[in-house]
Amino acid sequence: MNLNSKSYSNSLKKKLIKIIPPSLHLLIPRSFEIVGTIGIIEICDELKEYETQIGEILLNLNPQLQTVVTKASFHEGEFRTQNFKHIAGIENTITQYRENGILIELDINSVYFSTKLSTEREYIAKNVKKYSNELVLFSGAGPYSFVISKYQPNISRLTSIELNPQGHEYALKNIEHNKSNLKKSQIFKQIQEICKKYSIPLYEKKILQSLNQLIYHFKNCDVNSYNSILKEIEEYNIEYNSKIVEELNYKELFEYSKEFNSLNIKTIEVNLNTINEEEKLKLLLLLICNPNFIDYSIKLKTKIYTIKTLLEKNYLLQLLTTSKPLNEIDKYNSIYMPLPKTAIEFLAKAFQLCIKGGIIYLYCFLKEEELDNFSNDTIKKIYKIAKQKNINVKILNIRKVGQSAPRMYRCCIEIQIL
Ligand SMILES: C[S@@+](CC[C@H](N)C(=O)[O-])C[C@H]1O[C@@H](n2cnc3c(N)ncnc32)[C@H](O)[C@@H]1O
Repeated sequence: MNLNSKSYSNSLKKKLIKIIPPSLHLLIPRSFEIVGTIGIIEICDELKEYETQIGEILLNLNPQLQTVVTKASFHEGEFRTQNFKHIAGIENTITQYRENGILIELDINSVYFSTKLSTEREYIAKNVKKYSNELVLFSGAGPYSFVISKYQPNISRLTSIELNPQGHEYALKNIEHNKSNLKKSQIFKQIQEICKKYSIPLYEKKILQSLNQLIYHFKNCDVNSYNSILKEIEEYNIEYNSKIVEELNYKELFEYSKEFNSLNIKTIEVNLNTINEEEKLKLLLLLICNPNFIDYSIKLKTKIYTIKTLLEKNYLLQLLTTSKPLNEIDKYNSIYMPLPKTAIEFLAKAFQLCIKGGIIYLYCFLKEEELDNFSNDTIKKIYKIAKQKNINVKILNIRKVGQSAPRMYRCCIEIQIL
């Protein structure tokens, strides 16, 4: 919550006026930010001697708060983290924050986070299309990722990449906090219906857990080292049969999948060229029942692919649920780059991972006079990088997302790959 509302700042000001001398009244902080149970306030040097009192007043003003801190540094380093100084309440920097129907847990001291971007997250999430592959670069504790899956549970794959190990750890925790996001997806309903119809005791919890494993890919690595490649293996001359799947009824299929464990990985061969709707459903059930302990050998056109890892199983899931061609399954429909300071340095990588027609959301800082100028220096740089990569692009939009300094704005440039 970013509390700039008049009533809050008025009540804060009214109380502070009583303890701060009139000569300093102009310096009284007018706004503060609330992340879960933590209030963050900026206090200038002249008011430092009043900071404990300011913290106490803020605590008393808002019953949700347990802690008040002041900003002790700007966003710094590769992880874009900020230092905070405790001034009132419980000494703690770990909290849980709600926005757009999601819950994010994080340590504000070790992971970047800003409540001011909640409207932006809502904006982008509302534009996400059904069955799309979404890639969030610089994902932090996962706020963009979970708002996306909250607004569009029918996504096919959601990859999130974060360099900061602590940010990544919190993102993994946040899968658990937001595990119900995919409950509204069609595939969840489809599997539930099959289970009901054939009295298969596959519970909601298990379906959701498997779906989360198949759809979300959180990676703790440098964006530049990330590659999305469907592992293609050589064509082998084996006699192909998908009989194992064909002959089983749904109930047996479920029992069959239950037998597997990590020491007993089973390979199933499937010919996707000839598979009918009924078999597709069976495969879907098998995939969702137990994504970890079954490997698939799938024949698609003339090639055979081995499907072993969760990421590869996600490709199979997409082949079964969408009519996308393989080259689209391997890439992303939208790529978000919320690292305004240096995101442009990673743009060549994003071009490589985006499908034709896909959109890249590049965040950057622009001066006021650059906002309506579609040939500003940043745009020129974008065209230059595209040219080097032999890619045609179109700038769809330059959006103001927030103000970062006087006459300086955090912006989102929307770039379409042609
Ligand atoms: C401005 S923060 C945004 C975090 C998150 N998207 C949010 O809105 O809360 C940028 C994030 O990018 C991460 N980062 C910086 N360089 C990176 C790189 N080369 N590869 C992956 N992540 C990186 C930082 O650790 C930081 O968490």
